[in-house]
Amino acid sequence: MDFSLSEEHLMIQQAARDFAQNQLLPGVIERDDAQRFPTEEIKKLGALGFLGMMVDPKYNGSGMDTLSYVIAMEELSKVDSSASVVVSVNNSLVCYGLEAYGSDAQKEKYLKRLASGEIIGAFCLSEPEAGSDATSQKTTALDMGDHYIINGTKNWITNGSTASVHLVIAQTDKDKGHKGINALIVEKDMPGFEIGPKENKLGIRGSDTHSLIFNDVKVPKENRIGEDGFGFKFAMKTLAGGRIGIAAQALGIAAGAYELALKYSKERKAFGTEIANHQAIAFKLADMHTQIEAARHLVYKAAWEKDNGINYDLSGAMAKLYASQVAMDTTVEAVQIHGGNGFVKDYHVERLMRDAKITQIYEGTSEIQKIVISRSILKS
Ligand code: CAA
Repeated sequence: MDFSLSEEHLMIQQAARDFAQNQLLPGVIERDDAQRFPTEEIKKLGALGFLGMMVDPKYNGSGMDTLSYVIAMEELSKVDSSASVVVSVNNSLVCYGLEAYGSDAQKEKYLKRLASGEIIGAFCLSEPEAGSDATSQKTTALDMGDHYIINGTKNWITNGSTASVHLVIAQTDKDKGHKGINALIVEKDMPGFEIGPKENKLGIRGSDTHSLIFNDVKVPKENRIGEDGFGFKFAMKTLAGGRIGIAAQALGIAAGAYELALKYSKERKAFGTEIANHQAIAFKLADMHTQIEAARHLVYKAAWEKDNGINYDLSGAMAKLYASQVAMDTTVEAVQIHGGNGFVKDYHVERLMRDAKITQIYEGTSEIQKIVISRSILKS
């Protein structure tokens, strides 16, 4: 078994690290404060190929593997998870969903522009009463013959006001349960599509989270992804890969906080020596380092399984469950190691701590991951 990264993976890691340090770090505190979307930064990430990393080059993607994607996600998330969530949603949920399950015409019309970063996309599943319980969709997509009519509201949608293309999951036939759900491609300019209020969030404040309202939105049938009734499975299959991306984001948040805490503890002196020389701090660093390394192995393993055609539902859920817990624990300790400085914005760790929390919530809460994991191990 070879645990070393290839030359190509190391180059991607360096490119993402350079981008994070040179392009994301300078304005990250200000964007977080002002809740400002990283518009220019996302454009640059698109130009560098980070928005369609795993997409086939014939659809304007970078043609890379999932391991490259998680390596990039880790590096970007060490600095700015508001930017990395855009990368994650566009890559794992929107581009992957379209490339794996979309028609040729949908790939030509939408995937090419999404993968090149010309436009970005959103994945619209959550509703006020259908976050975890994803089968209970209240948004309807009524079948009108050659088109669907969508009505309803979606909540907490990442890229809500910035996306040009929305993959919307909605109920067509309630009696059929999850088999009556469809996934439809909705363009932001379609009449009846309305962007609701922006959320004022604890973390990832630079990202763009909105409710979306659908009032008799007419969507042509050719915009349905897959067969009639495939929408729920589409969402589940797509989210299974999305969880690997969010696990990598959590890993990056943890590693970013750890790197800052390590540096600080070698500089800051107390009781006549650098605080790293006190076991109270050194033991925290030892725990953080060990947990991050364990999380990284889970994330890489899930990515490796996806790249090798192995079912990754279990490994992706385990990676997300564990990495998000490590992100939470590590960022809290990083703030503690920084003492009073950790509580102020200039030192970055308080933002990382706030950002960590969402990784235990979106693309399935930790409790949902435990459902997926326990079902999988009990079935096997
Ligand atoms: N792959 C393929 N099929 C799957 C699947 C998967 N990973 N998971 C479930 N299915 C299939 C099942 O096989 C079943 O099909 P059959 O009836 O044909 O056998 C069908 O889907 C229904 O499955 P379940 O009975 O297991 O469904 P459930 O209602 O018990 O729900 C759940 C399972 C895991 C709890 C699911 O509802 C879930 O994942 N919920 C969380 C949803 C979520 O992640 N929301 C986050 C929103 S998106 C987001 O956060 C994006 C963002 O902005 C960043």
